[in-house]
Amino acid sequence: MLKVENLVVRYGAVEALKGVSLEVPDNSVVAVLGSNGAGKSTLLRAISGTHRLHRGRIEEGTISYGAAGREASQDRNGGLSRIDKLDPAKTVSRGIVQSPEGRRIFGRLTVDENLRAGGMNSSASKSTRAETRDRVLTLFPILAQRGSQRASLLSGGEQQMLAMGRALMASPSLLLLDEPSLGLAPQIVEQIGEIVLEINGMGTSVLLVEQNASMALRVAQYAHVLEVGKVSLSGPAAELAKTDQVRDLYLGHGAEEISGTAAVGRSQHLTRWTG
Ligand SMILES: Nc1ncnc2c1ncn2[C@@H]1O[C@H](COP(=O)(O)OP(=O)(O)OP(=O)(O)O)[C@@H](O)[C@H]1O
Ligand SMILES: [Mg+2]
Repeated sequence: MLKVENLVVRYGAVEALKGVSLEVPDNSVVAVLGSNGAGKSTLLRAISGTHRLHRGRIEEGTISYGAAGREASQDRNGGLSRIDKLDPAKTVSRGIVQSPEGRRIFGRLTVDENLRAGGMNSSASKSTRAETRDRVLTLFPILAQRGSQRASLLSGGEQQMLAMGRALMASPSLLLLDEPSLGLAPQIVEQIGEIVLEINGMGTSVLLVEQNASMALRVAQYAHVLEVGKVSLSGPAAELAKTDQVRDLYLGHGAEEISGTAAVGRSQHLTRWTG
């Protein structure tokens, strides 16, 4: 489980996060919605330890992470330990991997080489790495077909799949996805949503940052709305989809169609933040 508490992140004079708290339970998909500049990428960067590369600073708050299980329940902190001081490589070795905003694939490298780069820091054995690769290629058959092709020649949707596949090569227990649907046709966005569910089905939790609320709320169990650095609304995804705030800001027409299948049967509790 990931626990973010009262996180304040600043870039010089800009306070990008003003006290954000949220949790990602084990084996869940949690969405963070918000418009441009709300602080979504900053949140993911702080979790992955990459905020420093953008001259960001965590001024207050904590980020903790830990795996569930017997060990966890015996631990005083429920198996959680602080990760907010770790560098990005250490965060990856704890099982947290980010697929960054804008995909950031290596355009001059082939699809295969990009995937290999994703698994490079893994301490797993050769056979385990081969298994991971097989799983990634099963999830994204297009990457198997295009293995020797330069990544820059892939379509936008294929590049997004490569970015996700590359992140999965590190066998994360928590995958951080920054706007995977950005700039993609509706059909491809649907496909990305399905893939997020499959990734989650394989036992990886996903923290999904999106402006595409209809996709995010369909695949997530729980969601938060981020507005200028603060969480303004939190709740089960299906409940959030019904609120006027989310409908007006992010869903537009056709909001009725979102049933939030993943969220059915979860708690009916919605929290509105006033602070
Ligand atoms: N490297 C940086 N230096 C200075 N300010 C930054 C930097 N990165 C982000 N910011 C500022 O921090 C705030 C949050 O930015 P962030 O990129 O986290 O938002 P976002 O929700 O991801 O937006 P978008 O949807 O456009 O990607 C914005 O006001 C932005 O201008
Ligand atoms: Mg962003």
